[in-house]
Amino acid sequence: MIKPYLTALSKLIGVPVDKLKLVREVTDVQWKKSYPEVKEDDEYFKPDMGYGARLRPYQVRDGNDTIVTSFGLYEFPSCCAFVVSTQAFVDPRYRGKKVNKLTNKLRQNIASALGYTAIICTDVDDNVAERATLAAEGWKDIYQVRNKRTGNLVNISVKELKNG
Ligand SMILES: CC(C)(COP(=O)(O)OP(=O)(O)OC[C@H]1O[C@@H](n2cnc3c(N)ncnc32)[C@H](O)[C@@H]1OP(=O)(O)O)[C@@H](O)C(=O)NCCC(=O)NCCS
Repeated sequence: MIKPYLTALSKLIGVPVDKLKLVREVTDVQWKKSYPEVKEDDEYFKPDMGYGARLRPYQVRDGNDTIVTSFGLYEFPSCCAFVVSTQAFVDPRYRGKKVNKLTNKLRQNIASALGYTAIICTDVDDNVAERATLAAEGWKDIYQVRNKRTGNLVNISVKELKNG
């Protein structure tokens, strides 16, 4: 499931596929971080009943340990039907190559594999690239609000996940 995405990503950014790795960020009790590769057969990738919020930060790194792209999937507090997709980021060198469009699909696929029913996110209305990605991927905008802290116009969007 992960490999086809890395193959497609390799074509988009011109980095050999064997250099690309999907890793997760793990923080231990001393706040030290490590970045094990995500394996589809490990516990981390199994659906669970989601007791409490779980933050799952992911990165794709290239052979030079540059973070090509990163994102987080965060279980909605107290409701394991929803996962919140957050902190989507593409390294400025790799922007405008449809990486976000590809990884948006990957996020949906991982979320579905983890057993979530729907995926939810917020974005600032003038973030053209993110808005275009969500529209292309069929996310539904369900509410818009002016953030009274920042003055930003913020959308909340949702998509029901297919099984798989
Ligand atoms: C937002 C972000 C993730 C987009 O990543 P990206 O890989 O450059 O986006 P893509 O290349 O996949 O582009 C997605 C769509 O946006 C369009 N787009 C991308 N950059 C654009 C720009 N600067 N202006 C207008 N449209 C743009 C693309 O054309 C594409 O739409 P299309 O297929 O209809 O042509 C990236 O700019 C980023 O990391 N920004 C900083 C963090 C951020 O804002 N994260 C989102 C938080 S909600």
